[in-house]
Amino acid sequence: MTVRPIILAAGVGKRMRSSLPKVLHRICGRPMIRYVLAAVDEAGLGRPVVVVGRGAEAVQVEVGDGATFVVQAEQKGTAHALLVGLEAAPDGEAVLVLYGDVPLLTGQTLERLVAHYRDARPGVTLLTASLPDPAGYGRIVRGTGGTVTRIVEEADASPDERAIREINAGTYVFDGALLREGLRHVQPTNAQGEYYLTDVIAWTLSRGARVDALPVDDPVEVLGVNSRRDLARAEAAMRERLLDRLMDGGVTVVDPQTTYLHADVAVGEDTIIQPGSSLEGTTRIGRGCVIGPNARLVDATIGDGAAVVASTVVQSVLGEGSRIGPYSHLRPGSRIGRRVEIGNFAEVKNSTIGDGSKVHHKSYLGDATIGERVNIGAGTITCNLRDRSGKKWPTIIEDEAFIGSDTMLVAPLRIGKGATTGAGSVVTKDVPAGAVVVGVPARVIRPSEVGG
Ligand code: UD1
Ligand code: CA
Repeated sequence: MTVRPIILAAGVGKRMRSSLPKVLHRICGRPMIRYVLAAVDEAGLGRPVVVVGRGAEAVQVEVGDGATFVVQAEQKGTAHALLVGLEAAPDGEAVLVLYGDVPLLTGQTLERLVAHYRDARPGVTLLTASLPDPAGYGRIVRGTGGTVTRIVEEADASPDERAIREINAGTYVFDGALLREGLRHVQPTNAQGEYYLTDVIAWTLSRGARVDALPVDDPVEVLGVNSRRDLARAEAAMRERLLDRLMDGGVTVVDPQTTYLHADVAVGEDTIIQPGSSLEGTTRIGRGCVIGPNARLVDATIGDGAAVVASTVVQSVLGEGSRIGPYSHLRPGSRIGRRVEIGNFAEVKNSTIGDGSKVHHKSYLGDATIGERVNIGAGTITCNLRDRSGKKWPTIIEDEAFIGSDTMLVAPLRIGKGATTGAGSVVTKDVPAGAVVVGVPARVIRPSEVGG
């Protein structure tokens, strides 16, 4: 029996107070709807249908080709959304309903839910959880003998019902035919004036079909995101999950409380993450590295055995055994070789630095190509912006060059192999290999050695 996943993601998300559709708010770097899709994918079910409404286009762009979209033009409630979604679901299939704002649900739990439905074949199997603070969720009302009788939304609940701790996760498997019929019977006669999907539960029972409730193992999975406060809670829970996975993979996280991690980050064994570090985007870190304290890596690639201390690396590559920091910044497009030492207080942008080079103190290297074993003296600046046109000019520094402290390299410029610039020189012309230049503007005081 095919089970068709339908994800409801059309809601206005009023409580977020945001111009961004709720399901596109990010948790650990990923729009929350992508977690729901990943769980569906993990459970090995058919192609999902996603019901979109508010910000439909943006949601479709984010989800891409992995789903079929149906637009719910007006948001009249979850029952109405599902009715719209069913237009894209073939008759004769069972339906797995998910809400796009429940991002911590795992594929494993979905598998369990679907397996229960397949084995027991009730009218509905729904997922529930017992929460210490059930505020905001629909409550599961059970009758004598403990069978589920209905779901009551908080806004419509009596004080007694509000005291119920068992809540509706918003994840259900329905018999398709029964669901289609049940949805037509739902009326918006409730505190919110909406068509509630949850009303289908009592209707199903009234038709003599069974409703099974499956409690989730870990209540954190059912956390629904309605507000910015919920968003922060979901972030914390997801982060804890991701950090546990990292530690299980052989990474030392010295202080999980102050380590921030995105979902698409990978870290190799025996790397140590020191406190106050944020690993973001598609960052890849090798084995045996030391990251932090206070490092921020965004879409960075860090080779084995490298160290990043109190520095920021954005869309750049740091090679094996290289060190950066404290207090340095690799801006986008920087490719740093092996055993390179960078910083204190160095800024590198869109530049290549060859193996074994050193940029120890207070420098700016922009749009530069630097060879191997080059020494960049303290305070060296590539003057890559010469006028107001905005055009950046390249600087090339060949292998084993020695750039003296406080050298201004006025681009475009080439410093030949093994050349030396004196302290404080302002270099405006290419320097031949092996030559020594000093002064303002720099002049050759010792020409290249023959064959140098
Ligand atoms: C819903 C459930 C509640 C459950 C909780 C779990 C109903 C009536 N209530 O409440 O029992 O405990 O989720 O998190 O189902 N949506 C649409 N179109 C609409 C309305 C909503 O697509 O017209 C989508 C939303 O984008 C959201 C999901 O359905 O992803 C749930 O809607 P929401 O308004 O957040 O329901 P809750 O009040 O959280
Ligand atoms: Ca919700």
